[in-house]
Amino acid sequence: MLEQLDQIEQTALSGLASVLDEQALQDWKVAHLGRSSPLMKVFDGLGGLVKEERPAIGRRANEVKRLLESAFAEKSEAMRQLALQGALQSERLDVTLPGRPLRQGRLHPATQTLREVYRIFAEMGFQVYRSREVETDEFNFQLLNFPPHHPAREMQDSFYIDAGVERGDNPILLRTHTSPGQIHAMREFAATNPENPPPIRIILPGMCFRYEQITARSEMQFNQVEGLAVGYNITFGDLKGTLSDFARRMFGQNVRSRFRAAHFPFTEPSAEMDIECFVCGGEGCPVCKRTGWLEILGCGMVHPVVLRNGGYDPTRYTGYAFGMGPERMTMLRHRIEDIRYFWSNDLRFLEQF
Ligand code: PHE
Repeated sequence: MLEQLDQIEQTALSGLASVLDEQALQDWKVAHLGRSSPLMKVFDGLGGLVKEERPAIGRRANEVKRLLESAFAEKSEAMRQLALQGALQSERLDVTLPGRPLRQGRLHPATQTLREVYRIFAEMGFQVYRSREVETDEFNFQLLNFPPHHPAREMQDSFYIDAGVERGDNPILLRTHTSPGQIHAMREFAATNPENPPPIRIILPGMCFRYEQITARSEMQFNQVEGLAVGYNITFGDLKGTLSDFARRMFGQNVRSRFRAAHFPFTEPSAEMDIECFVCGGEGCPVCKRTGWLEILGCGMVHPVVLRNGGYDPTRYTGYAFGMGPERMTMLRHRIEDIRYFWSNDLRFLEQF
């Protein structure tokens, strides 16, 4: 019986030596340690042995079993290591290779200008106030002192939205300028204290839309940045000082500016501001159309009717407002000749900024 166990051990170990793959390893386990393996048969037969033989045979059988089990574990671990080595070799990865460069994105030139405008006005104490792009005729025109059919509407041909509802003289449209935000803002501020509305100092940036023939100089969508300051004793001098300082911070400390009389229904008096042409220094060139000046914004003192529509008593409060076009300012700074580049998404254009 003991020789038989030696034999079992020998056969099993030499069998294990020739095992090469996982399947063969599992087969080996079934054959040599499985329920019907010769070794298990020995255990099964222990009961039939004479009492004196039993301990020695039992001990030896257990020894062979432990031996085969640990040989199996060793072999199985060795094969695992071998497989890992193989994988490391065949799936070799050179971590010292330089990575593939990711294409870096950038901010759109209009966004860059907008952020610079926010920064400059933030330094002067103006907060950014967001307002809606879809408006009613009432907010876009009527509350801003444009009566129905007023000829000043001609300058702002509009996209009307047919909401399927008959809205009479208050149709829905895409805002043609950021000025309706003045009314929304004043009403919101005034609601906090209707008897004594708080002073306001905000800028209102965002997209505007006009039903325009698209040309090198006019797009049907563009950004504006509106500004609004309302309070006690605000004068045209404050307007001029603030905007001249803005121009210096935006275009350079030496830039000169001038105000020309203009007309907007929602400001009185109204003006347009020009800065000295920084291309020719005021000499006259194609960029400034030989005038030496570049127009950058419209502005004026908030009209009493508009103040009242916003909830501010025009006998106690005054204010100024302005509206500028960041795309236009970007064009001037970078001498971009065609406004259509801004929204045509041509990377050759966008990657230059
Ligand atoms: N909303 C005017 C426009 O789009 C600009 C403007 C704003 C003028 C505020 C005066 C005051 O042309």
